[in-house]
Amino acid sequence: MERTFVMVKPDGVRRGLVGPILTRFEQKGFKLQDLKLMMIDRELAEQHYGEHRERPFFGELVSFLTSGKVCAMVWEGPNAIAGARLLIGQTNPANAAPGTIRGDFALEVSENIIHGSDSAESAGREIALFFGDAEEPDIPRFNIDEID
Ligand code: PPS
Repeated sequence: MERTFVMVKPDGVRRGLVGPILTRFEQKGFKLQDLKLMMIDRELAEQHYGEHRERPFFGELVSFLTSGKVCAMVWEGPNAIAGARLLIGQTNPANAAPGTIRGDFALEVSENIIHGSDSAESAGREIALFFGDAEEPDIPRFNIDEID
């Protein structure tokens, strides 16, 4: 079993795409482990995208991520990291295949709807950044496992 971090970006939340995106992950068979709708401050956005700090679009990316609520999620399943990236599609929606989230819902890389961790190392870091350590959650939260 593997866990990955997925985030519907402000454009996806504004356009009402959280529901269709949840459905795609659930239909594929991944299990939702955690979810929250939240505003991101500049500090969290800069930490999340820290590896891209030197890239020309970094400022634009941080401003975009802090422009509205995001929906942060943790999904679990076999091969969840690569599997989520396949559901999401290519980074640039112009190259994303129809049937993928970006292929079906987005046109431009600057508003590409959704983020998914690109490696096990990123998934661990991003889950901890947004949800805290599993053993010590930052706020008490409803646990879906308790009703299974
Ligand atoms: S990836 O997914 O890491 O392989 O893609 P990469 O090309 O390295 O891009 C890293 C993140 O930056 C976003 N991105 C951009 N944002 C705004 N404007 C431009 N031009 C742009 N190019 C890339 C891209 O969506 C990646 O963010 P996430 O959230 O992972 O999709």
